[in-house]
Amino acid sequence: MADIGLLGSITLTLCFFVLESVPHQAQPEDPSLDGLCSSSITIHGYKCQELQVTTEDGYILSLQRIPQGRTEVGDSETKKQPVIIQHGVLVDGMAWLLNPPEQNLPLILADNGFDVWIVNGRGTRYSRKHISLDPSKPAYWNWCWDDMVTYDLPAIFNYVSHQTGQKINYVGHSLGTLIALASFTEGKLVNQLKSAALLSPVAYLSHMKTVLGVVVANAFIGEIMVKSGMPEFDPKGLPVIEVIKFLCLQPGVDCADVFTAITGDNCCLNSSTVNRFMVHEPQPTSTKNVVHLSQTVRSGVLAKFDNGQVSPPIYNLSNIPHNLPLFISYGGEDALSDVDDVKNLLDHLKFHDADKLSVQFIKDYAHADYVMGMNAKDKVYNAVIAFFKNRF
Ligand SMILES: *[C@@H]1O[C@H](CO)[C@@H](O)[C@H](O)[C@H]1NC(C)=O
Ligand SMILES: *[C@@H]1O[C@H](CO)[C@@H](O)[C@H](O)[C@H]1NC(C)=O
Repeated sequence: MADIGLLGSITLTLCFFVLESVPHQAQPEDPSLDGLCSSSITIHGYKCQELQVTTEDGYILSLQRIPQGRTEVGDSETKKQPVIIQHGVLVDGMAWLLNPPEQNLPLILADNGFDVWIVNGRGTRYSRKHISLDPSKPAYWNWCWDDMVTYDLPAIFNYVSHQTGQKINYVGHSLGTLIALASFTEGKLVNQLKSAALLSPVAYLSHMKTVLGVVVANAFIGEIMVKSGMPEFDPKGLPVIEVIKFLCLQPGVDCADVFTAITGDNCCLNSSTVNRFMVHEPQPTSTKNVVHLSQTVRSGVLAKFDNGQVSPPIYNLSNIPHNLPLFISYGGEDALSDVDDVKNLLDHLKFHDADKLSVQFIKDYAHADYVMGMNAKDKVYNAVIAFFKNRF
């Protein structure tokens, strides 16, 4: 970890740096980018529908539905169990589709008889529309993950529930687990949910070993960017690239392999997949969301966004209904979802009904293995499928 004495000077230097950098120009949207169906799903022989869901606060999210397996004929979608798949921060739904098809979670679920719905989070490539706001303007980016709890997940669950009339299974990775857990603490989604699989679960971040993340949090980079009028945190945009380059030059921060520095020592990634990842990901989020995550790193509690006025309300994990079927899988090499933080989470679930909680530990897995691991089907996804097929 970087030396704390250093952080003050990094912060100061960054203030000057950020203030002098050019305002971020939103990249023009490529109209040929229709969505994931044509680029990543129908090319493998699966049916796929592009859908849009509008949240109560006006964000238009793109969803892809894979209603059936590749070799299925006819329209047998009526009796299938729906699964919503929610990616983590700084990626979009494509992260689940970068491996050869027989290794990709959405396609594996479809082939196993599920009706699959892939979410693309607000602000990412396919979900940058709003009923009135424009992503080139700050107002569009005035949200953090609390808003995904309040607006995005309810909108998506209501939509899928309405379309299918079935109880829903949920797969979340990383931030996708955080927003689900936070929702469950408030009794949200639980009536529509059949079961949830949480991969690389995040509720606490105080043991995070991601050096870059720790430095960003402790040097208040997000806060500085907000103050400097950079509401969009685009990892491929010039200001963020420059900040990362700068941080990587600091003693104690080794960014020789930024991907590993952020996600941990992944055991099982195919280098062609990582190359594809670098082309299609990472994806933007709001700087305010980075600030909120930084607060979670620094404070060690799961709370709402701290606007600096009153201490923010917490999401109390003890309030998660004890009979909610939960599958949790965590990796021994995960630098973001650290083993000690997951143990803290599990400690809060110690009164959960034993037959409704299934916990899996994979010693050599890190953060990205859960999404792109070549062997994730055997290690994780088959167990998720078995869990979803339980009657409960
Ligand atoms: C790695 O990815 C390439 C390109 O998609 C694929 O041809 C190859 O089979 C993959 N290797 C493994 C071990 O899955
Ligand atoms: C969380 O909820 C539990 C059970 O309702 C309660 O005992 C505990 O004090 C709460 N924790 C906080 C920090 O409010």
